[in-house]
Order: sequence, then C-alpha cells, then structure tokens
Amino acid sequence: MKFFIDTADLKDIQEAQNLGVLDGVTTNPSLMAKVGVSGKENIRNHYKAICEIVEGDVSAEVLSTDYDGILREADELVTIDEKIVVKVPMIKEGVKAIRYLSDQGISTNCTLVFSAGQAILAAKAGASYVSPFIGRLDDICFDGVELISQIVDIYGIFGFETEVLAASIRNTMHIIKCAEAGADVATCPLSAITGLLKHPLTDSGLAKFLEDAKKMQ
Ligand code: E4P
Repeated sequence: MKFFIDTADLKDIQEAQNLGVLDGVTTNPSLMAKVGVSGKENIRNHYKAICEIVEGDVSAEVLSTDYDGILREADELVTIDEKIVVKVPMIKEGVKAIRYLSDQGISTNCTLVFSAGQAILAAKAGASYVSPFIGRLDDICFDGVELISQIVDIYGIFGFETEVLAASIRNTMHIIKCAEAGADVATCPLSAITGLLKHPLTDSGLAKFLEDAKKMQ
C-alpha cells in the first residue's frame, strides 16, 4: 500500500518524507488556499517546491470545469515536473478530459468520487488514480470504507488498472480499514500517518527498557 500525504504544507511534506515512508502527495484548491498560495506563478512555484521534496507522484488539481480549460491547464501543469499527476473532477467534461489525457500518456487522478458508478467511469476513461472521499461519506452517514471495498472488488473483476486512492482520510483507523479493503494508496494528513506509530504498550515498554538500561550503566 502506498502512502501519500494530503496537504500543500511544505513542512508537513518534508516531515513525512523524512520518515522514509512517503510515496507521493495530493493537493486540492482548498489545501493550496490553506497555506496561502495564490496567483498562477506562485502556484506553479509551490508545486515545484513540493516536487523537489518528494520522489513520487504529486497530484495538482485543475480549476477549470470545461473540457478545453481542463486540457489547457493540464498542458501547463505537466511542464512543471514529470511527477505531476493532473487531478480532474468527476464531471462529464472531466471524464472526457481524462480520456484524452490518458490517450496522450498523461497521468490523471479522478477526484471527488463518491460512488462505485463514478469509479467505473473513471477507470473506463483511463484514469491512473481514482479518489473516493471516504471521510466526507462518513460525515453524511454512508460507509466510506465500504465504498473502497466495492471499488477494489469491481476493479479486480474487470482487471481495471486504475489505482484506488482512498482520500478524505481523517484518522489512523481509516488507513488500517482502507488497507484491509485493498486500497492501492491512502492519502492522509500527517497526523494520521504519525498516528500509526502510537501504542501505549510501546510507550510503557520503552519506558521500562530505558529505566532498566540505567541499571546496566
Ligand atoms: C483528495 O485528494 C482530497 O485532497 C482530500 O483527501 C479531501 O479531504 P477532506 O475531505 O478532508 O477535505
């Protein structure tokens, strides 16, 4: 299972990278706005900075919602770095754009996916990644992890190559459940990744070892 970090915060990205377990980054317009990046040139430079930190794929989302606009933005985004994956929303124009980009050999991430039907369309269009938003489904009392299992099963039946990228992960348990469900990737906030480190028996066990180590000195 790959770990992506879901943020545009360079400090968090660097910290996850330093941990040695990071496979990529996802961003979205809200995350970019959160770190105060605005303006075409600044956005471009910010993506460049992210690509310098990580070794894997970096999803950069288009802001257009029409076919030509999406392709125009995709054209610009892919010149930033070869790690850039063009993130396109699950809308009719987006699906058409994903088909075109995929035929050109450009990697895409189909975002804002909330149903198995949408995930089938994304795969049929040739998306490299599909991003079901599990936390937002949980928020409205649907089982987000169940959707991941459903998509993994369907993709397995038909041999779709699109990778299932579990998004909108809110906590450590989400990561574990998505791993059990067979998600190819989990994109998570730093807190959910570092949350995997924690166990009270590790803390108490280490405290005891350190205490006993003093007796050895
Ligand atoms: C996915 O790529 C999105 O950036 C993200 O996971 C959305 O998460 P949120 O629901 O916490 O905003």
